[in-house]
Amino acid sequence: MTKIAFVGFGGVGQALAEILLERKGQLESCYSLDAEVVAVSDMMKGAVYKPDGLNVAQLLEAVRETGNVENYPDEPGVVKGLNSMETIQHTNADMIVEVTFTDVETGQPAIDHCRAAFEKGKSVVTTNKGPVALAYKELSGLAEKNGAYWGFEGTVMSGTPALRMPIATLAGNEITEIKGILNGTTNYILTEMEKGNSYEAALQKAKELGYAEADPTNDVEGYDARYKAAILSGYLMGTPISSKDIPCKGISDMTLEMVNEALKDNKKWRLLAQVKKENGEVTASVEPQLLDADDPLAGVTGATNAILYECDLAGPIMLTGAGAGLKETGFSLLIDLIDYQRQKTTAKI
Ligand code: HSE
Repeated sequence: MTKIAFVGFGGVGQALAEILLERKGQLESCYSLDAEVVAVSDMMKGAVYKPDGLNVAQLLEAVRETGNVENYPDEPGVVKGLNSMETIQHTNADMIVEVTFTDVETGQPAIDHCRAAFEKGKSVVTTNKGPVALAYKELSGLAEKNGAYWGFEGTVMSGTPALRMPIATLAGNEITEIKGILNGTTNYILTEMEKGNSYEAALQKAKELGYAEADPTNDVEGYDARYKAAILSGYLMGTPISSKDIPCKGISDMTLEMVNEALKDNKKWRLLAQVKKENGEVTASVEPQLLDADDPLAGVTGATNAILYECDLAGPIMLTGAGAGLKETGFSLLIDLIDYQRQKTTAKI
């Protein structure tokens, strides 16, 4: 049995709770994942804890109908009002689903939450980029030292397994280069501009469609892609690079003229995050690049993400899929939970 506490309970957390509820039987029978939600703590939506398990349907009903999980029925054993640190440190949860609203620049409060959980020997799955992009070395070391699991599949390309897939299936190759379209907002803007729409109109539409970050500066200036490049560098290339040290140029000065000039030459602009290994040295960058129209990355349109791994044995391998979305990001946490369960099972053998 895995006892789960949600720290943060916005759209992504709720999406995972719904998946756990709907697929309970399948998760248990196919993957031995017997997940029991024991606690939720959210700064805006309150907190509820029940050591022998909450009723997830009632929990979702409380948050969706009243916006406050503290409207969960009062019944014996239910405790309300714990803050996030109390939930991490003082509940019987062994798995913390860390999905708080976290400041991307400082990585807080997610970094402190991961640290507190690992110090208690508790495992964490998170979709927050900050802890991985800014504190990978410290936190992965702390998790290992305390026998805790740390999953963060959703930090790059949400539920499209950009991190787990190469580890699981490309092992034995050397990955010499990774390049990707890792920000949906900017790819949406560029492809809308290719249809003749203005930068401003396309950005507005990307905000309406929910692709953009709370502050779209992070998207259009390339900062979101830069965090993802830092994560790829640490996790897949074994070389943590602080995101602040990654040269970064976004698309905010891209004009319709530039896009049209490129199209005339049978080329397309794409904002690429790139991580390269040369002579044992790993470097990363984010910048708009002019690609031939028949380049596979040029063919990626709209908010879709794509990542291409250059492998010394298998050659180039590309993965495309969603890079955002509540259901997709909720699923990324499920990928981590199933992996956690597999690791627990293997360790027992
Ligand atoms: N704002 C991001 C994007 C969402 O546009 O891709 C996922 O990090």
